[in-house]
Amino acid sequence: MNPINHVAIIMDGNGRGGLKNKKSRNAGHRAGLNTVESIIKETLKYNIKYLTLYTFSTENWKRPKKEILFLFNLLESFLTNKLDELIRNGIRLKIIGEKKMFSKKLKNLLKKAEKKTSINKKLQINLALNYGSKNEIINSLKIINSLKKKITQKNIEKNLYTKNIPDPDLLIRTGNTKRLSNF
Ligand code: IPE
Ligand code: IPE
Ligand code: MG
Repeated sequence: MNPINHVAIIMDGNGRGGLKNKKSRNAGHRAGLNTVESIIKETLKYNIKYLTLYTFSTENWKRPKKEILFLFNLLESFLTNKLDELIRNGIRLKIIGEKKMFSKKLKNLLKKAEKKTSINKKLQINLALNYGSKNEIINSLKIINSLKKKITQKNIEKNLYTKNIPDPDLLIRTGNTKRLSNF
């Protein structure tokens, strides 16, 4: 087995990259998606079992509406056009983050993609959408509370979105931002 079992990537710098190429932030997002596809191919090639992509954080709702719309349209077309390819490649898709406020259409697409890929074993992609680490902890505490269990480290871990997923061996943040406060 590859000693690196889990790679996590904080996707960042795409907007700035797009502007730097004298295009637009959205052109950078589109290019970022192409990069994601190359990364998935390499991950499969090196037999890495988990790939976490931090794609949209709880903080990202502060962005202009138009940009948010563009990002979610990109995601929807990816889920629509690439699902078969994911299945063919043995990829299981898992969404981490709070899906509640997504459109019905997106929720359905995500549900379908998770369901149709659930038995795949070659690579698990954890797609972090509307994800925030603080939210993840709050969510876990709510579950513990509803189960009337004690708040212990073990119980907190057991109810994270990332339960059953080994911790990343490698965490990469793309782009050249210095701010590391989002997660
Ligand atoms: C990451 O790139 C993609 C996201 C959806 C968050 P950014 O959009 O954060 O690009 P910069 O950091 O503004 O350049
Ligand atoms: C990008 O962080 C991380 C993701 C959402 C995946 P931001 O884009 O929010 O951070 P800055 O503003 O570039 O530092
Ligand atoms: Mg950024």
